[in-house]
Amino acid sequence: MIDFAGLRFKNPFVVASGPVTASIDLIKRAEKARASAVSTKLTLPKVPFRCQLRPYSLPGFGTITPMDRRLEEKEGLELVRKAKRATSLIIFANISAPKSSLEDWQKLAKEFEEAGVDIIEANFSCPNIGLSRELLNNTAKDELTSGAAIQQVPMLAKKVTRLLKESVKIPVVCKLSAAAEDLGEVAEACEDGGADGISIYGGSVGLPPPDIYDEARPLYPLLEGASFGGLTGPQTKFSTYRLVAQVARRVKIPIVASGGIGNSRDAIEMMMWGATLVSACTSIMWYGFEVVEEITRGIENFLKEQNYSSCKDLVGKALQYLTSSERLKLIEGYADVDRDKCDGCGICLKPGHCQAIELQAKKAFVDPTRCLGCGICVALCPREAIELRST
Ligand SMILES: Cc1cc2nc3c(=O)[nH]c(=O)nc-3n(C[C@H](O)[C@H](O)[C@H](O)COP(=O)(O)O)c2cc1C
Repeated sequence: MIDFAGLRFKNPFVVASGPVTASIDLIKRAEKARASAVSTKLTLPKVPFRCQLRPYSLPGFGTITPMDRRLEEKEGLELVRKAKRATSLIIFANISAPKSSLEDWQKLAKEFEEAGVDIIEANFSCPNIGLSRELLNNTAKDELTSGAAIQQVPMLAKKVTRLLKESVKIPVVCKLSAAAEDLGEVAEACEDGGADGISIYGGSVGLPPPDIYDEARPLYPLLEGASFGGLTGPQTKFSTYRLVAQVARRVKIPIVASGGIGNSRDAIEMMMWGATLVSACTSIMWYGFEVVEEITRGIENFLKEQNYSSCKDLVGKALQYLTSSERLKLIEGYADVDRDKCDGCGICLKPGHCQAIELQAKKAFVDPTRCLGCGICVALCPREAIELRST
């Protein structure tokens, strides 16, 4: 059991808002795969233009999504009612109010509370539509630039959060992304506005490659033209760690983090950088709900194996090491080759900056006086024959 925003979760995994939470059958699958919660697909008072799921996908690396089908108010509310009736999951309602006044946020949140949702996830960060630009007097200078505007202005994020908190009794979590100028600052503003938690979308925004053999047509499936799209999946994992640590340092409220989680190890690492709950979308889109099962069981097994009494002990454990670059303490050392394991393949001779390694009698030999201690040969060696030693 893990506490988040005053609610008790049976484990730390939430299926992130997206195509994998857009219907009751998928939400039932999430429960079967042992998720503790789901965040329903983004619901808007009115869907502004017709969309279908059109991701450029490179499984194992990332996905760029310029559009996905959003839910209309009625649909979203009905989905929540069904999910509350048919499952015992904790349900987050992912909502936003584009091109409209603050009252729309209020109305939507109240309606979802009445429908029985457990948590409002206020989407201040959707990378795909220019949500709520009007609230900023349409300040976008670049017509190609999209993305929810609220998180760009901490005071506005605070104002909308406060309004939502005054409108509903259930917890309010604000979903933010790297597109915010200073994520720590906007997270603090949400906390000041009364937010019960911060949800982090760790991805960023990208463009797919043009097809170099077909008139440079961008490689989105079944789309004419290209727009910037939400960049998600494994290649965003390390920048998500950074965002989570940054926000964890700045606020006291808990974090639910998504961005590149594909297995239990990723999830545990995310918790160690400060996430209380972990969440994923892209890996489930590629590999199915088995991913959820592996993550939840994997975390459970890890806790037992490593003698942690609960998930709580993992949260923020790595933050004690976080410092600025100039304060890092350098350890002198060099790469050391186990000549019994080395088969002389020569991969460790490749690094362009290295002048310390050569083959002697068909085995790698490192000159410790020339070794920079960068560790790249250690990472490259397929036989795990190299280790770093401190001097
Ligand atoms: C196709 C697609 C649709 C998404 N739709 C939503 C959405 O409706 N609301 C939202 O807050 N996040 C949405 N997301 C973002 C995910 O919830 C998640 O925060 C993000 O994908 C990072 O996690 P991942 O790397 O595991 O995919 C979507 C992501 C994808 C790939």
